[in-house]
Amino acid sequence: MSQKLFEPITLRGTEFRNRIWVPPMCQYVVEKQDGVATDWHMAHLGGMAQGGAGAIIVEATAVSPEGRISAQDLGLWNDEQRDALVPIVAFLRSQGAVAGIQLAHAGRKASSLREGVPGAGRDVPPAEGGWETVGPSPVAFPGLRAPRELDQAGIDAVVASFASAARRAVEAGFGLLEVHGAHGYLIHEFLSPLSNRRTDSYGGSPENRARLLLEVVDAVRAEAGESLPVIVRLSATDWAEGGITLDDTVQVAQWLRERGVDLVDVSTGGNVRASIPVGPGYQTPFAAAIRERAGIPTGAVGEITEPAQAEHILATGQADVVLVGREILRDPRFPQRAALALGVDAPPIPVPYLRAFGIRP
Ligand code: FNR
Repeated sequence: MSQKLFEPITLRGTEFRNRIWVPPMCQYVVEKQDGVATDWHMAHLGGMAQGGAGAIIVEATAVSPEGRISAQDLGLWNDEQRDALVPIVAFLRSQGAVAGIQLAHAGRKASSLREGVPGAGRDVPPAEGGWETVGPSPVAFPGLRAPRELDQAGIDAVVASFASAARRAVEAGFGLLEVHGAHGYLIHEFLSPLSNRRTDSYGGSPENRARLLLEVVDAVRAEAGESLPVIVRLSATDWAEGGITLDDTVQVAQWLRERGVDLVDVSTGGNVRASIPVGPGYQTPFAAAIRERAGIPTGAVGEITEPAQAEHILATGQADVVLVGREILRDPRFPQRAALALGVDAPPIPVPYLRAFGIRP
């Protein structure tokens, strides 16, 4: 039986074996604080490739040192960081998965204490090994320091750092580049009136607030060339009075489509503290609305955990791919499990694992 989940999809020159993608998920395990990928990343990402995902998007990877959320983030601002990713990309490809990477700058939410230790998420000041944070305006995220407002030279440097990280990602062999424009990090901070109070050409009107995103997208595209897909993760709503709304995001998605962005990965929230009605598939309606109204392929993400649920999202035309995060952390073989549940042959199960599924090789 053919199922939409396992129908290949092609974006520009990259073919994906199926439409179950792994969204970027920070691991905060770079103990040397040098942004260089480790054996952890190989095992973590490699297992998900063996498990059959169509694409695996490497966690938010900082384009500059001050763009890291925490000191334990991955980075891609030097060649050593690029070279450490090369064997990981090669392994993901050898397992039939497309290797993607999310290029990110954490803006005013940078220099915070990583998840998993007491005080997680709190501000780490320079005196404790943190660094000065930057943003569109000196407006703090609750509980963190107010960032330094970027001037034109600072904005130009951010765009240039996205470009050089994109170049290194291409050199490392990635088949998919994602720009992080969501979750209250730098690009989202510019997009949202709640964090952007500027009066220059980067603040005020929707066009001005989107200017940084569009400059970054153009710079990344210039490095990616015409055959590599470039996608953007957006927060479709701030879930807050005076913040970004779905209508705003539809407009931004139209601009992205006009600039050749290949897909919008539709998330929500993260720029202010808000009450979010979390539940199964809670962000999928945003992906559906953007797909329909902006005429651009979308990815749906957020509490997608069941094969039939994932299939339904695609079969009803709400999105072109689904991104399955925590369920794939729990079970890296979710795509194979989904294929068996839906009665589909793909994706291949590595021969040594066949007996785990009750199949005699
Ligand atoms: C995340 N998420 C996330 N999002 C993002 O854009 N960049 C990132 O680096 C991270 N990091 C991250 C780490 C961990 C441990 C989790 C659980 C989540 C959000 C993630 O990509 C996804 O959008 C959400 O987890 C919702 O999807 P699921 O988990 O409900 O399928």
